Amino acid sequence: MTLNLKHPLALVPTMGALHAGHSSLINIAAQRCTEVVVSIFVNPLQFENPDDLAKYPRQIEKDIELAKQAGATNVWIPSLEEIYPNEPEIISAGKIGNTFEGVHRFGHFDGVLTVVNRLFNLVKPEVAIFGEKDFQQLFLIKKLVKDSNLPIEIIAAPTIRETDGLAMSSRNIRLTEAERIAAGIISKALTSAAKESSLELQRDVLLSLLASEKQFALDYAEIIDEKSYEIADSSSVNTRAIVAGWINGVRLLDNMVMRTQVHKMGAR
Ligand code: PAF
Repeated sequence: MTLNLKHPLALVPTMGALHAGHSSLINIAAQRCTEVVVSIFVNPLQFENPDDLAKYPRQIEKDIELAKQAGATNVWIPSLEEIYPNEPEIISAGKIGNTFEGVHRFGHFDGVLTVVNRLFNLVKPEVAIFGEKDFQQLFLIKKLVKDSNLPIEIIAAPTIRETDGLAMSSRNIRLTEAERIAAGIISKALTSAAKESSLELQRDVLLSLLASEKQFALDYAEIIDEKSYEIADSSSVNTRAIVAGWINGVRLLDNMVMRTQVHKMGAR
């Protein structure tokens, strides 16, 4: 990257097809830093399915406009050669990279960490912003930064939702109106589960509501411990429900903080 960039600098890595969720990441970056670089790069390494890569929405002109309006000082659209001039050394996302999303998208998180690390090396930001919507990705990027001692602050930005609760995603534009309505079951199930006071009830509510929408093909729905990204148990303090599945070939992900469990001694 040959641009003369000012510091402090925030990086907002994206794959384009920007929407209001990205605008909120860029807004947060602009509040924190003088320079805000928004990168747009559809990273082939994180697509295990060539069809998904081919169908990934691309709308560069609109993206540049939206990024600038949200506060980007630079929109960087690197070429494949710029990101991977040589055969890239793949960064392993380790054990957690092969759970949940990693079971269904083998090698996905290795690809994400490899490109994010490369973007960090090229842009050298002090701050980088990632959405909570991709919670396993966020967890693994924070771990990469910690394990590699990178001098970068990772900021987690809350998920932005449509009025009916559907988490905003670049893939949503591939849904028909009827499919979009059906997709609303994901946030409904999460919101209802979050109101329950025990892990068992949270799981039951989540699974039964998700099963009630026939168009939604569930891959996984679980409550995880935010500290370890493993299945939550009675010792877990901060828990989050994570859901992923498909509607007519469109992958949908979401997650939500769950209410802390009420233990025998006291009600909340
Ligand atoms: O979340 C995304 O859009 C991508 O996984 C990221 C972080 C830009 C890496 O390609």
